[in-house]
Amino acid sequence: MKRALRAALLLAMCPLLACAKEIRLPDDGLEWQASALPGYAIVQAQCRGCHSAHYAAYQPPTSPRAYWEAQVKRMKAVFKAGLPDGQVAPVVDYLVKTYGAEAQR
Ligand code: HEC
Repeated sequence: MKRALRAALLLAMCPLLACAKEIRLPDDGLEWQASALPGYAIVQAQCRGCHSAHYAAYQPPTSPRAYWEAQVKRMKAVFKAGLPDGQVAPVVDYLVKTYGAEAQR
């Protein structure tokens, strides 16, 4: 009987404990590289919520435009990234010119 009471008490406290919990994402904070290209603002709005720039920064620097296009389309298809179709091209342009084969180095 005592045990049941304790279990019930614990259960009753659960929502309180859950409230106190804080969700922390792993710190992978590599900022997306600032750029005047329109894709930069889109990346801030559409990609930053899920991950920092580290996935882009660690791609081979020789990656061509088609590679980035495939990645962005994969983000949409697999992870349901919310960017509209019209924003794919500017994002790809920003990525290839910042992290890929068309970057000024
Ligand atoms: C809903 C979450 C989500 C959003 C939004 C998102 N991504 Fe990702 N992205 C992921 C996850 C998870 C991975 C790692 C797993 C993987 O690559 O399959 C990833 C991986 C990547 C990679 C590395 C792929 C590889 O093969 O290593 C690139 C590049 C990338 N994302 C770019 C972007 C860009 C650009 C955007 C915005 C248009 C974006 N992501 C939006 C979740 C997201």
